[in-house]
Formats: sequence, C-alpha cells, structure tokens
Amino acid sequence: MQTNSVQVDFKSQIIQGIPNEMPRKKERSLSLSHAPKRKEILSMDEKKLAIRNALRYFPKTWHSELSKEFALELNDYGRIYMYRFKPDYDIYARPIVAYPAKTLQAASIILMIQNNLDPAVAQHPEELITYGGNGAVFQNWAQYLLTLKYLATMTDEQTLHIYSGHPMGLFPSSKEAPRVVVTNGMMIPNYSKPDDWEKYNALGVTQYGQMTAGSYMYIGPQGIVHGTAITVMNAFRNVLNKDESSNWKIFLTAGLGGMSGAQPKAGNIAGCITICAEVNPTAAHKRHAQGWVDELIEDINVLVSRTQKAIADKEVVSLAFVGNVVDVWEKFDEEGLFIHLGSDQTSLHNPWAGGYYPVGLSFEEANDMMSGNPEAFKEKVQESLRRQVTAINKHTARGTYFFDYGNAFLLEASRAGADVMAENNIDFRYPSYVQDILGPMCFDYGFGPFRWVCTSGKTEDLQITDGIALKVMEQIKTEAPEEIQQQMQDNITWIREAEQNKLVVGSKARILYADAEGRAKIAEAFNHAIHSGEISAPVVLGRDHHDVSGTDSPFRETSNIYDGSKFTADMAIHNVIGDSFRGATWVSIHNGGGVGWGEVINGGFGIVLDGSEDATRRLKSMLFYDVNNGISRRSWARNEEALFAIKREMERTPELKVTLPNLVDDELLNNLFY
Ligand SMILES: NC(=O)c1ccc[n+]([C@@H]2O[C@H](COP(=O)([O-])OP(=O)(O)OC[C@H]3O[C@@H](n4cnc5c(N)ncnc54)[C@H](O)[C@@H]3O)[C@@H](O)[C@H]2O)c1
Repeated sequence: MQTNSVQVDFKSQIIQGIPNEMPRKKERSLSLSHAPKRKEILSMDEKKLAIRNALRYFPKTWHSELSKEFALELNDYGRIYMYRFKPDYDIYARPIVAYPAKTLQAASIILMIQNNLDPAVAQHPEELITYGGNGAVFQNWAQYLLTLKYLATMTDEQTLHIYSGHPMGLFPSSKEAPRVVVTNGMMIPNYSKPDDWEKYNALGVTQYGQMTAGSYMYIGPQGIVHGTAITVMNAFRNVLNKDESSNWKIFLTAGLGGMSGAQPKAGNIAGCITICAEVNPTAAHKRHAQGWVDELIEDINVLVSRTQKAIADKEVVSLAFVGNVVDVWEKFDEEGLFIHLGSDQTSLHNPWAGGYYPVGLSFEEANDMMSGNPEAFKEKVQESLRRQVTAINKHTARGTYFFDYGNAFLLEASRAGADVMAENNIDFRYPSYVQDILGPMCFDYGFGPFRWVCTSGKTEDLQITDGIALKVMEQIKTEAPEEIQQQMQDNITWIREAEQNKLVVGSKARILYADAEGRAKIAEAFNHAIHSGEISAPVVLGRDHHDVSGTDSPFRETSNIYDGSKFTADMAIHNVIGDSFRGATWVSIHNGGGVGWGEVINGGFGIVLDGSEDATRRLKSMLFYDVNNGISRRSWARNEEALFAIKREMERTPELKVTLPNLVDDELLNNLFY
C-alpha cells in the first residue's frame, strides 16, 4: 500500500527518515526551475551499477517498482534524483524550535539544510541544487531523508560523517567534536576532470558541493551582494581618479543566476549604470520580480538607446538584457559605447552542461544540443568564447577595465584558443578580481565574508545582531591602523544600510566582511546577548568559502599568491582539520566550487552560539585559527598586506608564532642565470 505522508506530522516525518511504506509516485513541479538534462555518459553496465547503487537505500520489496522508475530518471535527466521521496511538507528554514532533535547543534544544521533547499532560495530545488547549476546539497532525496533522521536522533557525543551527500553514519565521538563532518567531491587527483564528475555523479557516488551548497551555509544572493558591491566599488576606485565618482559610469557583465544575480544590486549600491545580460528568460524575470534588477530589455537596439539615455541623464540604474552577452559586447563596440568596467559571471566552471550559452543559438536550441550533441555544443561554446574575447579586447584597447570574476572565464577562453594570454604566455592579459581587488584589499588583511543566521527566524533578532555588529565595528575602527580604515568604513556603511537594502531571502541571515578581530568580537557580543536573552535563540556563525582562508583556488581565492604555492591545497586541508578540533559544530571540505571540478579545494564551517561560556571559548579559538591560517599562508608567500596583518596579530597574541619570510633582492637573482 502506498501512503500519502502529509498525514504524518512534520517532526515525525523527519524522525522517520525513509518512510516505512513506499510513498506515492510524484511528478516534477512545472513551476520550479529544473537542472538541465545531464549528458549521457554511462555505459550499459555502468547504468545498471547506478540503479544498483540507488536501490541500496530501499528494501528489496520495493526494488522492482523503483528500478524502472530510476532507470527512467537516469534516461530522462541523466541522474537519479528519486523525486518520489521528496517530502510533502514545505522545505524552508523554520524557527529552530520546530525541529525535532536531541541537540541544539543538530537542530541548527537541519535548519541550515532546509534553507539551502527552500524553493525561494535554491536554484533547482527538486534536484537538490542550491546554486551554480550543479551545486548540490545531496545527490538524491533518500540521502536527504536519512541525513535528517540521523540529525534528529543523534546525541552530542556522536558525529555524522557525510560523503558527498551520502550519510555514512553516526560514529561515537565527544561533546568537543563537530556534530557533522562533510566531504564533497573528494577524488583521487587523476580522476578529477569534468567528465569524471559527470560519470561518478551519475553513478551516485560523488557530487559537486560547490561552496556553501554542500556545506549548508548558503544565505541567498545577499551573501554575494556585499562582496560584489565591495568588488565593484574598488574596481571603480582602481580606474577612476580619486575625486571622480562612479555615477553613470558603465559596468557591463553577464548572468542573473544564483550569485551573478547580485551584480545589478551591487552596481546600484556602487552608484553606476549596470548592464547585465541573461540568456535564460526565467532567471531574468525572477530577478526582476525580486527587485534585484531595475529594468528588463529584450531588444538590443532598445538596450543601446536606453543606455545612452541613462548616461545623458546621469542615472544610477540596472538594466537586464534578456539575451546573450556576446551580442552586447559586439553591439556596444559597433555603437562606440564606452564601458568603464567589464566582467562576466556566466557559470564557466561548468561550461559544457549549462553554465555558458553560446551566442547564435536560442536558449532552447542550446539546451537541446547540450544533451543531444555534446561535441557540437562544445564547439559552439568555444567559438562563442573566442567571439566574446575578440569584442572585449576591442573595448579594453580603448580603456575598458576588464576583470575575471572567478568563474573560469579566462581559463575556458584560453582553452578555447581565445586571445587572452599575456605576452609571457603564462599569465592572462586580464587580472582576476582577487588579484587586483579582493586579495590585496581584503583577504590579505583577513577581511572576508563572515555571516550569521538567527535561528529564531525573527526579524527583531536580526535587527539586534545588526546593531551589535555595527557597534563593534565602529569601536574597532577608532583604533584600527590607516591601512584598513577604508575597509572598515565600507563594512560599517554596509551593515548600517543592510536592512534597508532588503536582501534577506530565506533564513534570517546577514553577511559582513570582517577581519579576525572583528569576527571574534562580534561573535562574542552575540553570545553575550543570547545569554542575557536580548537575542531570543541561538545564532549560527559561518562564512562563505570564498574567503581569506579555507580555499585553495589558483584562479580565484589564491590567485594573488605568487610563490608557486597557488597550485597546492594544504591551506584548505589545514583549515578544515584545524577548525574541527577548535570548536566548529560542523566542517566541510570540497573539490570544485566556483571555478570547477578539479580546479579548487575549498572548505568551511558552521558554529552554533547558544549563549554558553563554552561557546565563547570555542568561537575565540576557532575563528582566530580560521582566519589567521590564511593570513599566515599569504604572508609566507610574501604578500605585503598579509605580512603587515600577521605581524600585527603576533603583537596582539603572544602565543601566535608564525614563520616569516626573508625577502630577497631582485638584483641578486637577476645575475644568477644566463
Ligand atoms: N558572485 C561572486 O561573488 C562570485 C565569486 C566567484 C565566482 N563566481 C562565479 O560566477 C559564476 C556564476 O555563478 P551563479 O551562481 O550566478 O551561476 P548560475 O549558473 O546560477 O548563473 C549564471 C547565469 O549565466 C547565464 N548565462 C550563461 N551563459 C550566458 C551568456 N552567454 N549570456 C548571458 N547569460 C548567460 C545563465 O543562464 C545563468 O543564469 C560561477 O562560475 C561562480 O563560481 C561568482
């Protein structure tokens, strides 16, 4: 007999995990966005293995019916999502008291997982994808059900180990240990090519966790708006004279997806004219309806005249062009429209499976070709990238400042044979935003995307935390050295205006770029406020993996490391191990994220503040290490700003002893080899 599980209450459904009786078959929602069909990659034998793997979650008596259904899913979508097992209850971050759990820590993790899968937050919620086209929380709904059951029933002397979405199980540990340890996409290095992800993900044995998708720390595009606003503001500071304003200057880019959707809002905060092309009409309309972009324009000639009007009227406005970005670069060149800043946030970390749409094909044509004729599609993508770069080069020859937005644009363009290499044929001719902007101005000083979530779900709690963070930052700024005054001011302005920017989607969360001192002082003040009852429920702290620490990514986070070590991943591993025994509630380490499978190792953490003295001890120890590990690595690579920051930290903290580099004179080296 098949049951309709809606009759069982929410808490019981969570505790039940995989239901005792097979739920009824479900169709996919027509109103939600779905992951593109993944390319056919498995042999006949491998397809059988994928079904065998999927069926191991279920009793034998269900196998006959489920095997046929899963084979159809594999055939139709290239993956087995197990749609039938998606629960009937609504998935979103409920107030923490709504969750069944024996520990507050585990309840907080359930809340964070549900936020990552909330249809208002997630990109393809029914495929358990939070953002970036393939950034998965779980591979299938059985993993989701089992994980939540484990979390709801575990004690604070157990640790749940999760292998790429699959909950391997609860193991005895201690109160001091993390409640959850997550790995995503960890592969034997030689098996880390894009097609390896296609194959092993289709087999159901690994997943692409992106950064905050597979670590349950995504907080919607707000998390990105702050970083993007900092980037756009500082990019303008880099190219304009000191007294020149960014008002009515043009910022041209692409993408209105999960993270890229933050660009127009960031452009408005930076006070410029943003032109953002988005080829997927659903994504463009969604962002417009959410108020993230001011106007939608479908005709390229209308875009040109509207841009000219915005310049003439000195407007601060964001315009979404519903179409291909290559057309905009080319058209603006023909029309002689000067672009001050240029970038691109298509998902080129995932170029062959829906991350980048080639010019000249409609959105539907591209989707058909992607799965029907992947080789031809690949050629189209590469041809399109060559055309895009040719147009960009014409603009930069006239003075446009172009930067790579960490989406592997330059990497994939170079692989496509586009003219993006510098004269030395080693470097790219354009910088990444981390090399020129975020690295030296933020990461090397320890500033990064610290974030928190109020588990009460109450707006008032978020307002109180905003107020506390503002007070702490203002206090720190009074004694901060000249080198970081600008950063402190940008962050103070952000937190002061954060509420009026109306950026909260999903959980009651906030992001704030802060350094080690700021993060620890803000966290400690939150913990006091929870203890005193001023904040009504625990607060979860975390960060984006896109930070000073935690992520080794030679074309992004660590692209401004010049001692050769940017192709190593020791820092990310040290972060996750170091955080795990210093008090993190959960830790995660991922292959892929941002720039692509095999191109980056990144990790993060979550820590629950419950107002206890124990939480104060943990937060101080863990946040200190989490940030300063990255600064140490950056200072050993001779980054001037990081050397400044770590020396300052050593003065403040006598127990910290970091190995410092001796600098070598260029002249000495220049005469060594002939
Ligand atoms: N925002 C940030 O701070 C940040 C930082 C680092 C890296 N990134 C990178 O930016 C990329 C985008 O992330 P996302 O979460 O928005 O991904 P996403 O897949 O949700 O969005 C990308 C969007 O680009 C659109 N697109 C693809 N090709 C296009 C084309 N030729 N013309 C116009 N639109 C096109 C897609 O339709 C999609 O909506 C990722 O590679 C990510 O890693 C972002």
